[in-house]
Amino acid sequence: MPKITFVDSFGEAREVEAEVGSTVMEAAVRNAVPQIAAECGGGCACATCHVYVDDAWIKRLPEPSDQEEDMLDFAYEVKPNSRLSCQIAVTPELDGLLVRTPERQG
Ligand code: FES
Repeated sequence: MPKITFVDSFGEAREVEAEVGSTVMEAAVRNAVPQIAAECGGGCACATCHVYVDDAWIKRLPEPSDQEEDMLDFAYEVKPNSRLSCQIAVTPELDGLLVRTPERQG
C-alpha cells in the first residue's frame, strides 16, 4: 500500500499506509492523524481536511476541481500548495507523498 507522511504543525511526522482508491483524508482519519477534522466526511463541503502538499509533490497531483478551489477559500491560512485532502485520491503513484497539516482547521 502507498505510504503517506503527515507532518503536524509541531513538526512531528506520522507515516501511514493508505488504501488505493481511498483518499488522503480517509487515510488520515483511519490512522487518527491529528489536525484533520474532516467534518463533512469527504463531501468537499467543509475545508477542515486542509493540508499543505510538499513542494516536491504538488505538481504531481491532479489539478483541484473548481469546487475544491471554492471550498479552499474557507480554509485557514491558505497557501499556493494548499489542498483539501478529501479530494486527493490515493493511487500507487502517491507512495511517499508528504503533506503538512495546518495548526488549525476552518
Ligand atoms: Fe470536508 Fe474535505 S472533509 S472538505
